[in-house]
Amino acid sequence: MVATATIAPPKLTDQKMLIDGKFVDARSGKTFETINPATGDTICQIAEGDQADVDLAVQAARRALESKAWRNMAASHRGRLLYKLADLIEANAQELAALETLDNGKPINDSLHVDLPLIAAVYRYYAGWSDKIHGKTIPVTGPFIAYTRHEPVGVVGQIIPWNFPALMQAWKWGPALACGCTVVLKPAEQTPLTALRIGQLAMEAGFPEGVVNVVPGFGPTAGGAIARHGDIDKVAFTGSTVVGREIMKSAAETNLKRVSLELGGKSPNIIFADSDVEKAAKFAYNALFFNMGQCCCAGSRLLVEEKVHDEVVEILKTLAGKQQLGDPFDTKTTQGPQVSEEQFKTVLGYIEKGRQEGARCVTGGNKLDRAGYFVEPTVFDNVSDDMTIAREEIFGPVLSVMTFSGADEAIRRGNNSDYGLAAAVWTRDINKANRLAAGLKAGTVWINCYNVFDAAVPFGGFKMSGFGRELGEYALSSYTEVKAVVTALGK
Ligand code: NAI
Ligand code: MG
Repeated sequence: MVATATIAPPKLTDQKMLIDGKFVDARSGKTFETINPATGDTICQIAEGDQADVDLAVQAARRALESKAWRNMAASHRGRLLYKLADLIEANAQELAALETLDNGKPINDSLHVDLPLIAAVYRYYAGWSDKIHGKTIPVTGPFIAYTRHEPVGVVGQIIPWNFPALMQAWKWGPALACGCTVVLKPAEQTPLTALRIGQLAMEAGFPEGVVNVVPGFGPTAGGAIARHGDIDKVAFTGSTVVGREIMKSAAETNLKRVSLELGGKSPNIIFADSDVEKAAKFAYNALFFNMGQCCCAGSRLLVEEKVHDEVVEILKTLAGKQQLGDPFDTKTTQGPQVSEEQFKTVLGYIEKGRQEGARCVTGGNKLDRAGYFVEPTVFDNVSDDMTIAREEIFGPVLSVMTFSGADEAIRRGNNSDYGLAAAVWTRDINKANRLAAGLKAGTVWINCYNVFDAAVPFGGFKMSGFGRELGEYALSSYTEVKAVVTALGK
């Protein structure tokens, strides 16, 4: 990790929302506070969007979609605007990293050296796609010629979570803008700061007014207004399975807007005895504890082959002992607070449940005795598949260890979940690795690695982890409609 120069928590004034190229107050005049999870203190007030603001943002996005400035813009020029946005994000990386750390609590080293480079890479990747989105010419029977046009799906509503705020915005904005859509984004109420600042940078980059709008607010109000809106053509959502279901219902009951969902997971991370066990155990630690366990693809079910179980648990305990919990602006900190008091309480509730149901807590298990929402890195051993901590997404620093023997059992137990977002396999046997990769029902399978993300590689879920793919070429299909054009040849 590159050493980081000290970055101080920024001082902020109250924030307005971005509609039609301007920063404005909520129609209602209401605001809400965003909280620093490391202290519990209020950072500043944020304009609180609701139905009326979403309406205005959708009208602006619709006008922009139909405007000559956007509709007739050369595709390559859209790409240049995305490149410009990536450059501006990079030029302001320290400020953006500080905003993210202040609002979300993630260690500044991670904000600056993990999130920010990935964010810039995603915008650049989709900048390159802007002028490469095209249809096919199709030979047909009879005197006709057919071709397809990949047109922008239209005005898109995007509702994002708080765990990787600016990165989730990039995953949503990159493909939407490359495809020529216009956007109404609702950041999570816990973490609106970077979305608003990046909205401002998008204006500076030269996106026409109304192409991107940012409406902060709460889920049922601002988020619900997006999901129900009759003039939004598509909604993209990342968050909980419960809310994903609501979004689908709203889409079904209104205008059948297109829906893509990236929901949670309970991803199996499978270590075979014939792997590089030490490396696998170290990665298994990071697979769960990175970002305070607040990752949709967290390797939260660690399946270890019986023979190497004790060795793996020892390594996990040692690593937990080295974790530096504290002020996320301190460059020595490796684990910050959970994002909110609500999440903090939920995580502690799961730890209690783990104990009650008979799992063995081998390290951690407590909150820290200080301000802010800190939870010790916690490892439960002797976890069985039916325990709550093995079934439900905890979204916190709590790892469940279970044992298995043999590839058949690994596949069966790995798939024993309603979720199917990610999975990983650790083995030196390439045949076994590929057998597992084929057998595991998950949108991503990592072999001898974990949490490897690239703008070009698709990401998304099987089963109740959602549908639709983000990143890579695959994400483009979420933001385009295919139109078939058939022309008669001759007389
Ligand atoms: P959530 O699903 O309630 O929130 C995610 C986003 O959806 C936020 O922007 C929120 O304002 C919005 N939202 C909430 N209710 C809505 C509604 N009725 N209509 C439209 N939008 C709505 O997730 P929450 O409560 O923050 O976290 C709860 C659990 O969800 C976590 O513990 C975790 O298990 C899971 N989660 C999964 C994420 C992922 O990356 N897949 C990210 C965040 C949470
Ligand atoms: Mg919620």
